Amino acid sequence: MGPETWTAVDDYITGQLVEPDPALDGALDASRQAGLPPIHVAPPQGKFLHLLARIAGARTVLEVGTLGGYSTIWLARALPPGGRLVTLELDEGHAELARANLAAAGLSDVVELRVGRATDALAALDEEGAGPFDLVFIDADKASTPTYFELSLKLVRPGGIILVDNVVRDGALVQEGTGDEGALGMRRFHELAGHRQGVQATTIQTVGVKGYDGFTLVLVDGA
Ligand code: SAH
Ligand code: DHB
Ligand code: MG
Repeated sequence: MGPETWTAVDDYITGQLVEPDPALDGALDASRQAGLPPIHVAPPQGKFLHLLARIAGARTVLEVGTLGGYSTIWLARALPPGGRLVTLELDEGHAELARANLAAAGLSDVVELRVGRATDALAALDEEGAGPFDLVFIDADKASTPTYFELSLKLVRPGGIILVDNVVRDGALVQEGTGDEGALGMRRFHELAGHRQGVQATTIQTVGVKGYDGFTLVLVDGA
């Protein structure tokens, strides 16, 4: 049992539980053709994000790290009429493709895509009073996750959720002496989440088509 089995099981889960969808499948095809790195959430994970947003009754979502907009589409589709999603992306090429994918999904009016460094964008959102957001999905450059987490705490409502992707990184999270800046970022993030008053967090390890990784679910007290 290893990565081949994990991929086969992910394929099985997708076949059984994730209905084919022109906008989502088209976004993946277009991303592949454009040569984007294949680091979008896997389909079962995309559906998980969608279900989580619905369970939370989210009306406002903030995403850090758009890529081609695949996770964006899953999340935006969970919103009720009048709902709003803001997504942040550094790379203009990724953003251009995401815009096209979101337009094809009929979501251009729901999603606001801001191009630039997420640290700057998050600070700007705070200054603008753009929050509060019901759900934040952090999935950009891994080394900056502690910063994104801190800034997200200012933008998420009491009772809101922060979900952080790629926190285990093949177990590098706990490897002494790892030089992986991303893994070090995730370690720092765990320390922050564990010590911060007013938040409850847990991390779930995952295997699948994207290998061995995990996500952290953070619930902000209140509401
Ligand atoms: N959430 C997407 C995948 C995001 S991949 C999905 O699951 O479909 C991570 C993205 O973060 C990449 O597109 C990368 O360009 C972007 N990124 C990297 N550094 C960034 C930064 N400093 N600010 C904003 N986005 C950044
Ligand atoms: C990477 C980024 C991701 O969001 C992901 O899910 C997997 C890998 C990366 O930058 O390597
Ligand atoms: Mg990710």
